[in-house]
Amino acid sequence: MKFFLDTADVGKIKAAVEMGMCDGVTTNPTIIMKSGRGQREVVREIAALVPGPVSVEGISEDADGMVKEGTEFAKWAKNIVVKVPMTKEGLKAARILEKKGIKTNVTLVFSANQALLAAKAGASYVSPFVGRLDDISEDGMQLIADIMEIFSNYEFKTEVIVASVRDPVHVVDAARMGAHIATIPPDVFEKLFRHPLTDRGIAQFKEDYAKSKK
Ligand code: E4P
Repeated sequence: MKFFLDTADVGKIKAAVEMGMCDGVTTNPTIIMKSGRGQREVVREIAALVPGPVSVEGISEDADGMVKEGTEFAKWAKNIVVKVPMTKEGLKAARILEKKGIKTNVTLVFSANQALLAAKAGASYVSPFVGRLDDISEDGMQLIADIMEIFSNYEFKTEVIVASVRDPVHVVDAARMGAHIATIPPDVFEKLFRHPLTDRGIAQFKEDYAKSKK
């Protein structure tokens, strides 16, 4: 299973890369806005740091505009992946960009049929948003289970990125379902390491070491 970081925080990405825990990065216009930096500048810096794919999203709504934007993004670095929205125009753009050798990530996916369409369009990645489904009282992880079941019936090249991850349970459930990738915000990534019994165990061993015969 691959871990992507869902952030444009260069310091946090660098730390995770150094631990061998960051296989890629996803961004969107909100994430870029929060970084306080320009999209081109920050994405180029991230792409140089990360060994794997870095997703970048534009704002065009028609296929021609998305292809133009995506072709420009792809010039920034070899590992750029172009995000396109899950619309007819987005799927048209995905097909064209993939034919040009530019990888795409179909984003804002909220149903199994949308994921199926993205796979049929030849996208390299599909991003179902689990947290936003949970937010409206739907079961985000059930969508991942459905998509994994459907994809296992065929030989699509499309990899599933579990997106809009809100807590560590999303990550463990994604792994249990065999999702290819989870894109994880830094605060959730930090939580994956922690367990109170680990902390308590370390403290106890330290205490006992100090008391033991030297
Ligand atoms: C990733 O590709 C998505 O843009 C991101 O996970 C969305 O997360 P959010 O629903 O927390 O904004």
